[in-house]
Amino acid sequence: MTSLTLTRPPGLGGARIAELGDRARLCGLYDDQGAPLYDDLAAADGFEIRDIVGAVRAAGDGPVLDLAAGAGRFTLPLLATGREVTALDLSEDMLRLLRARLARAPRAVRERCTVVRGDMAAFDLGREFAHIVLGTTSLSLLDATGRAGLYRSVAAHLAPGGQFLLSVMERADDDVPTEVHARVKGASGTAYDLYEYWPAGSDHRYVTIAPSEPADGPVTVCVDEVGTMSIAAIETELAAAGLTVAGRRPLSGPGDRHRVQLLKAVAAR
Ligand SMILES: C[S@@+](CC[C@H](N)C(=O)[O-])C[C@H]1O[C@@H](n2cnc3c(N)ncnc32)[C@H](O)[C@@H]1O
Repeated sequence: MTSLTLTRPPGLGGARIAELGDRARLCGLYDDQGAPLYDDLAAADGFEIRDIVGAVRAAGDGPVLDLAAGAGRFTLPLLATGREVTALDLSEDMLRLLRARLARAPRAVRERCTVVRGDMAAFDLGREFAHIVLGTTSLSLLDATGRAGLYRSVAAHLAPGGQFLLSVMERADDDVPTEVHARVKGASGTAYDLYEYWPAGSDHRYVTIAPSEPADGPVTVCVDEVGTMSIAAIETELAAAGLTVAGRRPLSGPGDRHRVQLLKAVAAR
């Protein structure tokens, strides 16, 4: 379900890999090599956390299912609201980081969390949730079959009156540059070069992340090829799956390269 390329991506990210030559060790963003690097960046990134936690608080009590939870960027703040949280992710490498984080949390918090290794495109947890969360625009990690399975699984797990909160992303417009390069700092203080290559009209974008000042020797470079689609098309798919969009909240600002929205979907009556 996850589309991943371990070949050299086009554009500046590919050029950086070519420059590193045989020192480059290509990996996925969420595998054993990539997970610690992704987590270093994610731990320094507060994007969406307040919006998701706020939307859960506003909708009332009840257990939360955090889909594609990764190392728990939303899981821990959701647990801090006092709710019971189930964190589901496909990558054992990401879940290992989450379990380590939970082990450092107070027992009363840890005991309210259930960690599940599973595929968000096909899960059966045998219970319902008042809130189901899929943040970080992780919907884009699924292909059409995977998304249909996700909507089916979500609808089967939503408690009566429950909400499905998902963040979604599209190009802000066709005039934005095909590629961008940004330097970003992880929680450890390590600087990374982040490259995105996304030609207008393409249904895929490439993300490449490499340490800005690598030590001598092999250099871990994360590469990912991620599907893209318009927010309108996602809403159409949700509706066809019996999930009505009952609210939209912009998460990006004017002038941003990506238009990001937090959608609230509920079961159609
Ligand atoms: C962009 S990360 C988001 C992680 C976390 N929510 C955060 O904000 O840091 C995407 C996550 O989706 C997970 N993932 C990818 N495909 C998945 C699938 N089919 N089912 C469940 N998790 C998946 C990856 O392992 C990764 O942890």
